[in-house]
Parts: sequence; structure tokens; C-alpha cells
Amino acid sequence: MKQKFVLTALFVALFVLSFVFSCKKNADPDPVIANDTPAALTPDTILTPLYFPPPIIPDDNKPSKELVQLGRQLYYDPILSNNGRSCASCHVQSLGFTVPGLYNNDMPVLPHVNLAWYNNFMWDGSKQGTLEDIMMFEVKDFFATDLAKVNQSMTYKLLFKKYYGVNTITYKELAYALAQFIRTLVSANTKYDLSLKGLYKRSPDEQRGLEIFFTEKGDCFHCHVNPVTTDNLLHNTGLDSIFSKESDKGYYLISGLPSDLGKFRTPNLRNVALRNRFMHDGRFSSLEEVIDFYDHGMHKVNNLDPVMSLPAKNNGLQLNAIEKKQLIAFLKTFTDSTFISSPKYANPY
Ligand code: HEC
Ligand code: HEC
Repeated sequence: MKQKFVLTALFVALFVLSFVFSCKKNADPDPVIANDTPAALTPDTILTPLYFPPPIIPDDNKPSKELVQLGRQLYYDPILSNNGRSCASCHVQSLGFTVPGLYNNDMPVLPHVNLAWYNNFMWDGSKQGTLEDIMMFEVKDFFATDLAKVNQSMTYKLLFKKYYGVNTITYKELAYALAQFIRTLVSANTKYDLSLKGLYKRSPDEQRGLEIFFTEKGDCFHCHVNPVTTDNLLHNTGLDSIFSKESDKGYYLISGLPSDLGKFRTPNLRNVALRNRFMHDGRFSSLEEVIDFYDHGMHKVNNLDPVMSLPAKNNGLQLNAIEKKQLIAFLKTFTDSTFISSPKYANPY
């Protein structure tokens, strides 16, 4: 009896379902395929604390929730590369979107954080422009993304048709969507930020470290400018006096001007304590080594940055052991645990 009831119920359910589907098919041929006009997008905003300058957003790539999601999907998808890698294989969220060690035995992977405020990219500042321009380089040149492969993916074909109205995905749409996601990677919830908002009280060591950082004593703030912690400009900080490796020559390799020898772009210090190799070639393996360099390791080369050659620095910074520890305690307040664990930046698959 019970069995018969279950069977009848199943038949009824199947009948109803097939009716629903057939109706849907007749009345509504897939709107994505049929319509060339891109779907309306839901505007999104780039989280920008009041004490940040406005982010750089080109008019033709205003943030929208759908495109940020699409960019995130691409960021984590090995389909873009020809060797099974995704962007996220080298840019890992839990480490501030970088990885330990060196890429190609040559340089640390740069983190993705607050890039919405950048117009100079890469260690040596060799790429300039908007995030869209850089993403174009990433897919076209660095990954040499196989567009035929991407266009074979029905999921992407439908999504790009829906949002951009295109039948064929090109590098431009990939770059624009990736830029949408990367622009949302904003770190503004470190102890440093919280203390600016009055929500965290620095320890005495962190406070003293901050004073060293932001005064002539340490003089870090001229280049690691508040609040993005980089001025996004190129400087020779006196790391080398002899340029034995080509890659130590910095922006000179691009411009050919002797005045650009050894110039590198100021890196972002957010999440710096999560990294284990520092500087363009990863020559230092601890923040202690970095501070020792600023304290007494600098070479007085011809094109040394004017800030590095102030008279007060003639004999180095002359920090004592306690002051060095305090400076490092302050650098650690740039770690953003919300940023490195936020589900909205995580792998969507
Ligand atoms: C095999 C490792 C690797 C993969 C995979 C990778 N990157 Fe990178 N990325 C690097 C390295 C190394 C650098 C630093 C390069 C330089 O300075 O010359 C970098 C730098 C960058 C920068 C510049 C950041 C800055 O501060 O200037 C951006 C943006 C970037 N990558 C985006 C991407 C995107 C988007 C993808 C995926 C399409 C990707 N990367 C995949 C290793 C990788
Ligand atoms: C004249 C500009 C300038 C000043 C002043 C300066 N920096 Fe830097 N900083 C740079 C540049 C440029 C680099 C990258 C150099 C390279 O890669 O060769 C860098 C690199 C770093 C790094 C390594 C970051 C990484 O991801 O590898 C740390 C940490 C750092 N600086 C902290 C400091 C501290 C602390 C001070 C003050 C004592 C300071 N800086 C002063 C320009 C400056």
C-alpha cells in the first residue's frame, strides 16, 4: 500500500516537473544567448577609509558586484595558464597574496594589497599604468593565456556574454575582470588602522616604534608614506655599490639612464611581517636584517636618494638594540588578519 502511494507520488512529481520545464523552454529561450545587450550590473564600491586618498578607478571599468566575482573566479582558475597555475598559486591569501621564498630563484613574489592606489608596478617599476594595463600584461605576456581554451568554457562564454555582451572573450575582458577583483583587495583593518580610528591602543614598544618610523630618527615615512605605506615611486636606497647582477640595476634596465641605477619602487609594508624574503632579490631573510641595513648597511652611491643622504644619517641611523626591536614591533602592526582570512577574497571553487 505504502509502496503504491510512493510510486504514484513520484509519477505526479515527474509529470509536474516536466510540465514546468517544457513551459520554461517554450516561453523563455535562454536570455543570455538571445540578447546582445549586457546585463545590468550592480554597482560596487572600493572600501576606502577616510584617511586614504581616492582609489584609481578608470571610467570604463567602474566596480560592480558581478564583475568582481567574475574576476575572483578567474584569479583562482588555472584555465588562464598553460601549466596548471592560477594567479593564486603564487599570490596566496593567507600570506597577504604572496608566497615564501623566491620566484625563479630570483625575486620574491610581490603581494597584492591596496593596488587600487598604484600606478607603478613591479619591483623595478618597469610597468606603469592602471591595474587594467597590468592585468593585460599578466594574461597576454606573463601567462600567455590560451584564448581558444577560455572560449571553449561554456561557463565563461555565458558569463562574458552576459556582462560584456561579447561572443568571443579577448584579453581585454579577462584583464578588466581581473582588475575588478584585485582592486577590492583593500587592507585597512590592521592594528595600525585600528589605532588611527581609536579602536586599538598601541603597546609602549609599538608606540615608540611608530615614533621612530614617522620622525627623522628612522625617517621611514618619506618613502613608506602613510597610509598606503608606499609613495609608489622609485628610489636608490644604497643597497649596492657594485651592480654584479643585472637585476640589481633596477629601473636603469628600462630607461638606460645612469641616474636610475639601483632604483626600485618602494614596497608596501602591509603584512610585511608575513614575508620571509625582503627586497627585490630577497637578499634579507628577516626584518632584523632589513633594519640593520637601514641602520648601518647603506652604500653612499652617486644617485643615493636625497632622503637617505641627509646629514643626520652620515653615520647611519645609530639605533640601539631596543629601538630596533621597537621599530619591528611597529612594523608588525601592519599585519591585517581580517584581510588574510576574509571569505570574500577566498577561493570560490
Ligand atoms: C609563478 C608565480 C606567479 C604567478 C602564477 C603569478 N604571479 Fe604575479 N607576480 C609574481 C612575481 C615574481 C611578481 C614580481 C615581478 C616583478 O617585480 O618583476 C609578481 C607581480 C605581480 C603584480 C605586481 C604587483 C606590484 O606590487 O607591482 C601583479 C599585479 C600581479 N603579479 C598579478 C598577477 C596575476 C593577475 C596573476 C594571474 C594572471 C599572477 N600575478 C600570477 C609571480 C607570479
Ligand atoms: C628613500 C626611500 C626609503 C626610505 C627612507 C625607507 N625605505 Fe624601505 N624601501 C624603499 C625601497 C625602494 C625598498 C625596496 C628596495 C629594493 O627592493 O631593492 C624598500 C624596502 C623596504 C622593506 C622590504 C619590504 C619587502 O617587501 O621586501 C622594508 C621592511 C622597509 N623598506 C622598511 C623601511 C624602514 C623600517 C625604513 C626606515 C628605517 C625605511 N624602509 C626607509 C624605500 C625607502
